[in-house]
Amino acid sequence: MNILFIGDVVGSLGRDMVNEYLPKLKDKYRPHITIINGENAAGGKGITEKIYRGFLEAGAQVVTLGNHTWDNREVFEFIDEAKYLVRPGNFPENNPGKGIAYVKMNTDEIAVINLQGRTFLPPNDCPFQKADQLIKEAKQRTPIIFVDFHAEATSEKQAMGWYLDGRVSAVIGTHTHVQTADNRILPKGTAYLSDVGMTGPYDGILGMDRDVVIKRFLTSMPARFEVPKTGRTQLSAVSIEIDKKTGIAKKIERILINEDHPFYS
Ligand SMILES: [Fe+2]
Repeated sequence: MNILFIGDVVGSLGRDMVNEYLPKLKDKYRPHITIINGENAAGGKGITEKIYRGFLEAGAQVVTLGNHTWDNREVFEFIDEAKYLVRPGNFPENNPGKGIAYVKMNTDEIAVINLQGRTFLPPNDCPFQKADQLIKEAKQRTPIIFVDFHAEATSEKQAMGWYLDGRVSAVIGTHTHVQTADNRILPKGTAYLSDVGMTGPYDGILGMDRDVVIKRFLTSMPARFEVPKTGRTQLSAVSIEIDKKTGIAKKIERILINEDHPFYS
C-alpha cells in the first residue's frame, strides 16, 4: 500500500503544479491513495469548494487543512458535506467539519487524521490527547493510519512522531513550507518527516511575494501578503510504502521538484 502526500499547495501556481505533476508522480510512485494539504490553496488562505473538488478531480482522495482552515469563508458552506476534507481534529468540539476521514481502496481502508500544533500557533485542544482519541476510533476499522501534523515547532512535531510510533503508519509534518531532510522510519514502524514542504511559487518567501515580506522585515509596518501568480514553481511531496496487514511503514521517500531538483520519471 503506497501513499503519496503533497505538501501545502499555495495559490494557482501550486494548483497548476498538482495538475501537471500528479499524473507523472502516480506513474512513478504508484500510490493507492493521494493526499493533499490544501489549506493555502485559495490565494494562500483557505480553500473553496471548487478547489477542493479540483483536487479530487486531479486524482487526490483526501484534502487536509491547518491554521488557515477558516480563512476563506466559503468553507463554512461546504465543509460539513465534504466527505474527504479534513481539518485539524483538535479544533474545539463545536467547530464544523471533522478531523478524520476514511478512504476505501478495494478491500483496504485508510484513515487520514489532521492535527494542529499549539506552539507558536493559536491555542486549541491538546493534539496529543486528540490523537489518542482518533487513533482509538480508527483502529476499530483499519491498521493503516496517516497523520498530517500541521505545526510550527520541529520539537512538537518530533514529539508527536515519537508519541505515535508504532500506533500509526505515518506522521508527516506540514505548515513550515520548507522540506526537512529527516525522513525516517521510527523503531516501532512509523514513517516520519518533520515537514513535507510546499507546492507553489519557488522564488517567493514561504510561497508569498518576497518583496512584500522583505518590506515587512525592513519597516516593521503592516503590508498585505500576496501570492505570486507567475514565476518559477516547485512541488514538495513524500511517498510512503506501508504493509497493509500491519500498518507498519516499510519505506519513506522525499520528493522535491523544482529547477534545481528536476523530476526524473
Ligand atoms: Fe499553515
